[in-house]
Amino acid sequence: MPQLTIYRFNEALPPELECQIRAFIRLTWYDAYAENPDLEAPMLPPDEHPQHVVLAERHALISHARLSWVQVEHAGERFKTYCLGDVFTYPAFRHKGHGRIVADAATALIHEDGDADIAILFCDPKLEGFYGQCGWSHVPDLTANIGEIGALEPHNYFAMMLFLSDKARRSQEAFRTQTIFLPGYDW
Ligand SMILES: CC(C)(COP(=O)(O)OP(=O)(O)OC[C@H]1O[C@@H](n2cnc3c(N)ncnc32)[C@H](O)[C@@H]1OP(=O)(O)O)[C@@H](O)C(=O)NCCC(=O)NCCS
Repeated sequence: MPQLTIYRFNEALPPELECQIRAFIRLTWYDAYAENPDLEAPMLPPDEHPQHVVLAERHALISHARLSWVQVEHAGERFKTYCLGDVFTYPAFRHKGHGRIVADAATALIHEDGDADIAILFCDPKLEGFYGQCGWSHVPDLTANIGEIGALEPHNYFAMMLFLSDKARRSQEAFRTQTIFLPGYDW
């Protein structure tokens, strides 16, 4: 029976699960590994506060979702901003509801944080329904840059968001009309 486990920030992932998470990412989103040859680097820098939601049958990984958060300055305000990423199910286990379980659990973790303002994920447009069922909404006009100040990269993919705090709900228009800068590369 698969078991759902949450590895909160600073809680070590069991090495056999971390290895399978890294292997899937390496096979599927290999740009990150091609651009960063440091094999010892953590999956995410600690200042992005990574957490992992893992569905596994003992040592065999089935599904995974990763959460991180950073502070984002936008339109004169500061937003505690979550990112949901690296959501995947190993191919043999797809279309059985496992992906939904980890995406739902990760989304619930964001809602648990009373200081959270917004959350963003970027995905293939065909997954709008999948994330929509977890409560996320597409923001059609969002334009984003990622990276570091002085080395910004456009990141204009299909964006879905949660607007959690009153401040975020008041500022929704500013996310549609002004380019947002998302620090780091793990979006
Ligand atoms: C996207 C992904 C995570 C979905 O994982 P999954 O475990 O198959 O997810 P679920 O089973 O919960 O749901 C997927 C679909 O299967 C359907 N499904 C759920 N349970 C089902 C069942 N028992 N029988 C048949 N279909 C089922 C869902 O309705 C959903 O269909 P929809 O997208 O048309 O709504 C998986 O396809 C994947 O790893 N893709 C590659 C990595 C990727 O692109 N990740 C997304 C990054 S943003």
